[in-house]
This record gives sequence, C-alpha cells and structure tokens, in this order.
Amino acid sequence: MDKILVLGASGQVGIDLTIRLIEIFGNHRVIAADLKEPEEEVGCKFVQLDATDKDSLLSLVKREKISEVYHLVAMLSATAEKFPIKGWQLNMDTLFQVLEMARQGLVKKIFWPSSIAVFGPTTPKEHTPQHTIVEPATIYGISKYAGELLCQWYYINHKVDVRSVRYPGIVSWKAEPGGGTTDYAVEIFYQAVKDGKYESFLNPDTELPMMYIDDAINATITLMQAPAHSINIRTSYNLSAISFTPAQLARAIKKHLPSFTIEYKPDYRQQIADSWPKSIDDAEARKDWGWSHQFDLDKMVSEMLFQITKKLKKTV
Ligand code: SER
Repeated sequence: MDKILVLGASGQVGIDLTIRLIEIFGNHRVIAADLKEPEEEVGCKFVQLDATDKDSLLSLVKREKISEVYHLVAMLSATAEKFPIKGWQLNMDTLFQVLEMARQGLVKKIFWPSSIAVFGPTTPKEHTPQHTIVEPATIYGISKYAGELLCQWYYINHKVDVRSVRYPGIVSWKAEPGGGTTDYAVEIFYQAVKDGKYESFLNPDTELPMMYIDDAINATITLMQAPAHSINIRTSYNLSAISFTPAQLARAIKKHLPSFTIEYKPDYRQQIADSWPKSIDDAEARKDWGWSHQFDLDKMVSEMLFQITKKLKKTV
C-alpha cells in the first residue's frame, strides 16, 4: 500500500502532523523522517534522514513506496538571516528534490508550507490580501516566495499536485519551534509556567498573525483532502486565525497566572517582525476548501497553559 512521508517530522509542526496522519491512516501507512529523533514517541516508523541527502531521500521514497510527501523541512526566519546560504540551500534544494520526484511520477501529492514571511515592508499590513505586493525582506521569506513560484511552475508545466498554505506563527507545546521570529509566542508559556516571568525579544505592540497548532494541522489535512478541482491557488493560500501582540498575549496569560510579569528587550528579530503583516485575509482558503479556525486567543492560552503545566510536571 502507498505510504505517506513526513519530512521534518520531529519539528514543531511535524510531530503533531505525524500523530494526526497516523490517527487518520494508521501507523503502517505513515513514515516519519528527520535528522533528529522526535521528542516523544509518535507511533510509526521513524527514519533518520538528512533531507539534503538526495540519494537517501530517493531510495527511501522508492523503498517505502511513498505516494504523498509532507515537506516540512526548513530553516526559519531568524536563523536563516544568520546563515543565508545554508538557509537557502536547505529550503530550496529539498523542495526541488521532492518536486522532481513528483515530476518523475514517483510521488503523487505534495504538501509544502509557505509563510507570512513572503510579505515584506511594502505589503499592506492589515488584512493582507492573497494577491498583493510581495517583496520579502528576509532570506527565509525570499526562499518561501521562490518556493511558491516553483510549486506553481511544476503544477502548470508538469501537473504536479502540490498544495500549500502560508502558515502564520504557530503556537504549540509538543515540540518547540527553533529559529523563528514568532517563537516568542511559545517561549512565553514555558517561562510563565516555570518562572512566572518572560523577557520578550519583540516590542509590546508588535502585532503578528498567529495560529494554534490544532488549527494549523486541520488546515493542512483539509487542504490535502480537498478535491483537486477546488484548489485554485497553486502558489500558496493565505491562512489566518488570530492576531495578537506580546502585550495582549501577556494579558491573556495573566488572567490565569496573575503574578506573571513581562519585560521587553527587542533584538534583531524586531526588524523581521516589523516587515510582516499584522493580519491576513484568507477568504480564498475559506471559499475554496472550507477552511475555518477554532481557536481564539483565550482558548489557545488556556490550552497551552494546561498542556505545558502537565508536560513540565512529567519532566521533573
Ligand atoms: N514562524 C516563522 C518564523 O518566525 C514564520 O513562518 O520564522
């Protein structure tokens, strides 16, 4: 039976996505691959793999008869600013490789996430439309926008069924993010539960589009299960749930932990955040494949505090 491969399965999105795919398709149909072992047992075959190693990836796909790939491998915005060549190579070469495998008929369907990072300082910041000025100011954003166009090129010229959404900042608790500008919105919960205080690397009023992990996974699966004829955007869909600032997030945490305090010490990531939209118009995703989100700020905060408190108790 054909199998589903999650590349980058130990990462922030990968771990939750792998678990959900196993729930839907069963563990014999899902293969998790990553450079590093997952933090928790995900319940399917795990293959240690460097996604930039083309030969190993190709032989894995052939050996396991992979028909669908969720390609989640990426160097995120903050890290890629420090290692631009490595970031570009990781983000682009691995995508090219998977698209080529689809062109050759080995793989039938691909999911590859883009990001709000494709937008830049010249993009309208409020309710950013699907089609607008796109001049990303980070290596990560440039690689994601080039990737979007690459996906569309493979779709138009080679009928490759590749589907994509522009993830906002993702808030989750199973695996921590690494190297992103929106990571503060995860770190804050660990610090709030552990120390009762947090030093934010973004200013209090920096509003960014965000999403709870369950919504991000739901969007991903819904898009992949949608009939091909309903997908009208083959670059990447705008996707939106909530927008908030560090100050608003801190206030929502304080409702549960009244003694929680926050201080602000913006660093180089402030400039990246300032180049991104505050909110996103995702009408096309809602219209084409019925996307809707479930988690607002308060619901997300309650769930995060509950899950992280439980997780940290287990580790002591
Ligand atoms: N979470 C990503 C980052 O901050 C944005 O897609 O880099």
